[in-house]
Amino acid sequence: MRSPLEVWLKEHREMIGHADELVELLAPDDIQSKLVNPDESKIRTRIADLMQKFSDYASGHFKLEEELLVPLIREHLDINLPAVKEAIGCLTREHGQMHMFVERIEELIPLLRSEDPPDPHHAAELLRVAYGVQSILRHHTSKEEREVYPLVKDLPMKAVLKLMERLMEKLRDKLNPVDDISLDHLIKPLGPKPEDGNLIAENGEAPEN
Ligand SMILES: [Fe+2]
Ligand SMILES: [Fe+2]
Repeated sequence: MRSPLEVWLKEHREMIGHADELVELLAPDDIQSKLVNPDESKIRTRIADLMQKFSDYASGHFKLEEELLVPLIREHLDINLPAVKEAIGCLTREHGQMHMFVERIEELIPLLRSEDPPDPHHAAELLRVAYGVQSILRHHTSKEEREVYPLVKDLPMKAVLKLMERLMEKLRDKLNPVDDISLDHLIKPLGPKPEDGNLIAENGEAPEN
């Protein structure tokens, strides 16, 4: 692993994978009747498990970006520059939308796990929430990787180090111990020479070593 930011990139892929799986589970024409069928608790449990992941991402990944990354960008970059303003505005708006979806998700999960199946109204809402979450995540993660994460390269080195150290602390249990990285190696992709390698590859994927 090259930098802790790659943990965030990996989480983006995971989130989109879960959102796609959720929408696929809800795609069959007879899904509404299945959701309210008392004998279909297995599919309801799987949907609840996937929805729980979005709640966890909102309180983990999203909150960390809000608490670690955004304040450093606000402190060290000119928030009136159009690119910075647009990037932070977009992140804040879309995180807000995601948190609103998660509020509904947290109300729907107990209904899905209940022995009594949800009513048709809740089943329909479940579909709306799932499609909404998929749409926001696909747009948000793509935009964030293209317009927000690259701003890290414009931060002063002391801010980059602070971000990396705090991320390392918060994400330690998600970093494979064999991938532990020295500080030199950790900041290398963020150095002043772009030809040394960008944090984010052209295609939006994390670069390979
Ligand atoms: Fe985000
Ligand atoms: Fe993110």
